[in-house]
Formats: sequence, C-alpha cells, structure tokens
Amino acid sequence: MHELASLYKQLSPIDFRILVGIENEMRRHKWVPIENLQIYTGSSIERLRKRLEFLRGMKIVLYTKTPYEGYQLYYRGYDLLALHTFVKRGTLDAVGGQIGFGKESDVFVGLKNENRVVIKLHRAGMTFKKIKRDRRYLADKEHFSWVYASRLAAQHEFKALKILYPEVSVPEPIDQNRHAIVMGLCEGVTLVDCVLKDPEFFFDEIIENTKKTYELGVVHGDLSEYNILVSPDGITIIDWPQWVGREEINADELLLHDLSMICKYFKKKYSIKKDPVSLLNYFKS
Ligand SMILES: Nc1ncnc2c1ncn2[C@@H]1O[C@H](COP(=O)(O)OP(=O)(O)OP(=O)(O)O)[C@@H](O)[C@H]1O
Ligand SMILES: [Mg+2]
Repeated sequence: MHELASLYKQLSPIDFRILVGIENEMRRHKWVPIENLQIYTGSSIERLRKRLEFLRGMKIVLYTKTPYEGYQLYYRGYDLLALHTFVKRGTLDAVGGQIGFGKESDVFVGLKNENRVVIKLHRAGMTFKKIKRDRRYLADKEHFSWVYASRLAAQHEFKALKILYPEVSVPEPIDQNRHAIVMGLCEGVTLVDCVLKDPEFFFDEIIENTKKTYELGVVHGDLSEYNILVSPDGITIIDWPQWVGREEINADELLLHDLSMICKYFKKKYSIKKDPVSLLNYFKS
C-alpha cells in the first residue's frame, strides 16, 4: 500500500486533533509550543509527547528543541488533514496508490461510493528534490508561501472544473479543501504516451473542447500533450491551476500558445498541418 494511504490508516482521532491544533496555532507561532497543544487537545503531556514522537517519526510534523519545545506541520500533515476533511464530509471513502508525480502536484486514486476518484495534492513552488534538499529552509521561510500558494492553486483549479464541467470534457469536480482536490477519475493515457490511429479525430476533439472552454470564458494556459488524456471515447483535458479568464490581458497570448503547442505536436508526430493563428481567429469569430 502506498505510504500516504498507510499513514492515513495509522492515525487516530487524537493525532488529527493534534494536527489541527498545530495548524491553527501556526498562525501565531512559528513553532507551536507543546503547552498550547495540551490546551488544544486536552490530553496529558505524556500522551501528547508519545503521539508527537510518532508524528515526527512519520515526518508528518517537524520539531525543534530550541528555544523551546515546538512543532510545525510538514506538508504530509496538510495532506492528511485535507484527506481527513474529505472523509468527514463524505466526499472520499478511501485513499489508494499514487498515479501521478507531477512537477507541482502528487496525484492519488481514491474511492467514493465504490467509484474511483482522483485526489490531487498541490505542491506549488516545491518539487520533491527541493523538499529533500532544503527541508529546514522550506519549513521556515517558505512555509507560509508554500501553504498559501498551494491552496490558491487548488482553489483556482477547482473553480475551472466547476465552470467547465460537463460542457467541456474535464474531470468532474467533487470537492476541494486546503491544497487538495477530489475529482472524477478519467480513463485513458496521456496524449504523449499513445500512438493515435485517427489523429484527425482527436485533433478536432481537442480544438472543439478548447473552443468551448473559451466560450465559457476560460483559457487553459498550459495545454500540451502532457495534459490531455486520450481514450477510445475521446479526450479529457486535465491540469487547470494556471487558467486565466478570457477577459484577462494576456488571455489571447496564452490561448495562441496553447493552440501552437497542439499544432506543433500533431505536426511533428502525425504530419497534420494546422495554423494556430487561423484557429484563434475561428475561436474569436
Ligand atoms: N482526473 C484524472 N483522471 C485520471 N488521471 C489523472 C487525473 N488527474 C491527473 N491524473 C494523472 O496524474 C498526472 C498528473 O496530473 P496533472 O497533470 O493534473 O498535474 P501535474 O502534472 O502535477 O501538473 P504539471 O503539468 O504542472 O506538472 C497526469 O498526467 C495523469 O496521469
Ligand atoms: Mg500535468
């Protein structure tokens, strides 16, 4: 079983209370004093220390001895709190293995009412390499900017799915909390990983979905062969945290860039020649 799923199973209600306590107290303290957590959880110092030791061992919280005994949430702590919220709200029943290792996110499968769903945990401005290299640094100075930026990314992506689903072929938006999203699982493989028998059909599908997106006031902003899933039934466009509104100043430029990426890819791989500028004009006509 994947680490996150097994971690989740190992946490008890007191652990979640401790994590919520640390999260709240971090608004006031860089390192949350253990005494504050005692008040927050109402548990004895001995029990609290024992649980905190476990949470430290699992790298769910970070710890300092000086100038006083204090704790911080680490990114896994936020992951677990978001999952816990989804479970409490009934938008998620179980967490499974990891299916995506993106530049700025980790993607897991989950279950909701026996349907498979996808959980995307945003990690804005933080790659795994960076986490490993600069654990302390991130925990300190960049902590809030990471937490904040990841939450904004999740909110923004969720908003796009809400606007577009189901008119445009995007994952069904199910829930959002902190830096995380629950969405429908889409069948298929990324465009870059397949060889299409009927590339013209899929090219048209992509263009028509991008046009509908534009008509609903949205420009993806990072459209490419990596963010399109292909199945025998058609395509799904994923990965929306950087979308912009059609009225924004750089929207046309981004749309042209999106269209150019698709045209370039289909030209290189399938010798299909299309002009992104004509497509842009077609969208605007
Ligand atoms: N709704 C979904 N259904 C099925 N698979 C998904 C879904 N969302 C994401 N995935 C899988 O997870 C991978 C990563 O997801 P996504 O592209 O949204 O994030 P990302 O790659 O971190 O972003 P970036 O492109 O900035 O690196 C995808 O390539 C895909 O394999
Ligand atoms: Mg992606």
